[in-house]
Order: sequence, then structure tokens, then C-alpha cells
Amino acid sequence: MAILDKHKVIETHATLLMVLSLIVVSIGGLVQIVPLFYLENTIEKVEGVRPYTPLELTGRDIYIREGCYVCHSQMIRPMRDEVERYGHYSLAAESMYDHPFQWGSKRTGPDLARVGGRYSDEWHQDHFTYAKAVVPESVMPPYGFLFNKEIDGRYVQDVMKTHRFVGVPYSDEMMENALADFTAQADPDSDYDGLEERYGEAAFGRAINVRNFDGQPQLTEADALIAYIQVLGTMVDFSTFTPDASR
Ligand code: HEC
Repeated sequence: MAILDKHKVIETHATLLMVLSLIVVSIGGLVQIVPLFYLENTIEKVEGVRPYTPLELTGRDIYIREGCYVCHSQMIRPMRDEVERYGHYSLAAESMYDHPFQWGSKRTGPDLARVGGRYSDEWHQDHFTYAKAVVPESVMPPYGFLFNKEIDGRYVQDVMKTHRFVGVPYSDEMMENALADFTAQADPDSDYDGLEERYGEAAFGRAINVRNFDGQPQLTEADALIAYIQVLGTMVDFSTFTPDASR
């Protein structure tokens, strides 16, 4: 009981209690925070995660410009209802090349973190043109104008340069071929070997989607947006992935 008696001294002196609490809390804080300073990276690298191709990156900019993040999140939390509805919970690595990240904060529509490959390009074409045509109760606005806005990728190298500046590992080769890769991805009749070599199977373990995404001969913003939507959540192969439990 001797220890309890001493504790009474602390409990009956407000100042002493405060000073000692502060010391205890500081130690707890240091134990949590200091080790982080010695880690070079707090994100576990995961195989398959790669920088966006020039066309996907352009689609991402359109996603941001149109404010899709206002109604859609891209962050599946590790809770059963979310995992059952949307798929494997989001990994930190999956947004490590997203500047800024698109986790969002509101779900007027569903989470889009794993929407890639869930629907056909044709479904997206119809849905972006007039969502109610495919989902009658939808409140999603129409984006048909994206199909009329032609793009030529003249600024895509600059965009990649900015992303490289903030840490996305675009290689010199990727930078030099930015424009060629940009147009090749939406044209299955083109020579897209270079694109595949830089971003595909050999480099990151997964083939690149090379298609006419918007179903029209000209290259439009709809091509870029659908290319982006179709890659979301598909980079990591979850049939072979095991999380590193030590982090
Ligand atoms: C006003 C809110 C709102 C905005 C803004 C919005 N959406 Fe949606 N979105 C919805 C709703 C609600 C649904 C669910 C009904 C449906 O499928 O249309 C949806 C569904 C979707 C789906 C299908 C998801 C699934 O798993 O079924 C995709 C893909 C999508 N939106 C992409 C986009 C993109 C890209 C943009 C920006 C160009 C965008 N949305 C902007 C509300 C919105």
C-alpha cells in the first residue's frame, strides 16, 4: 500500500499532477514520433504500382478539373461493408504517385478506388454522356461535352515534369516519349511497343490498356478520362499480394 499512499501526494497537488502528466505524455509522444524520423519512407512499396501513363495523367487532370472528387471518394477503408462492396481496402502505395491524392471526403456516388475494369468502355461512354440512360435513378451530371473536346497532348510533358519534380519516378525515357506514348495508348493500330515497354508488363508486371477508349476516331478528353478510370485500383495484383504486417 505504500505506493498508493505516495500517489495520494500527486493527486492532491494539482501543479505536481500537471507537471508529471506532461512528462508522461511527452515520453509517449516521443516513442511514437521519433522512430518515424529514421524511416526513409513510411509507405510500403507494393509491386505493380507505377506512375500514370501520359494519357491517364491527362484523364486525372480532367477528373480534378470537373470536380469528380466532390461526389466520389477513392479510398476503401478496411471495414467489412466497404471491402465487400468495393474490393480490397486501399493501400497507401496505391496513391503514392497521386499529387494531390484523390481520397475525397464525400460519397454522393460510389467509391471509385477500384472501378477500373468493372465496366466496359461502352458503359462509361453511355454513362458519361447521360448517366440516367444506364442508371435511371442517378443524380450524376452529364459530361457529353468531353467527347467533343479534342486533345493533342501538347502540354503533357510539362505536367509530367511537375509530377517528377514532386517525386514521381518518370524516367528520362518516359519524359522524352511523352507525346508518342500519349497518342499511342488510344490507338490500337499504332506502334505502342515503346509505351508497353516503359509502363507495361516488363517494367511493372501488368499490361497497359491500349484501346480507342471513347469509340470515336479523334482523340478527346473522354479518351483520357476513361483511360484513367479504367486503371483505377488495377495496378496491384491482389491474388498474390500479402501485406507486410510489421508496418
Ligand atoms: C453530383 C455528384 C456527382 C458528380 C459531380 C460526379 N458523379 Fe459520378 N456518380 C454519382 C452518382 C450518384 C453515381 C451512382 C449512380 C450512377 O452510376 O450514375 C455515380 C456513378 C459513377 C460511376 C460508376 C461507379 C460504380 O461503381 O458504379 C463512375 C465511374 C463515375 N460516377 C465517375 C464520375 C466521374 C469521372 C466524374 C467527373 C467527370 C463524376 N463521376 C462526377 C454522382 C456524381
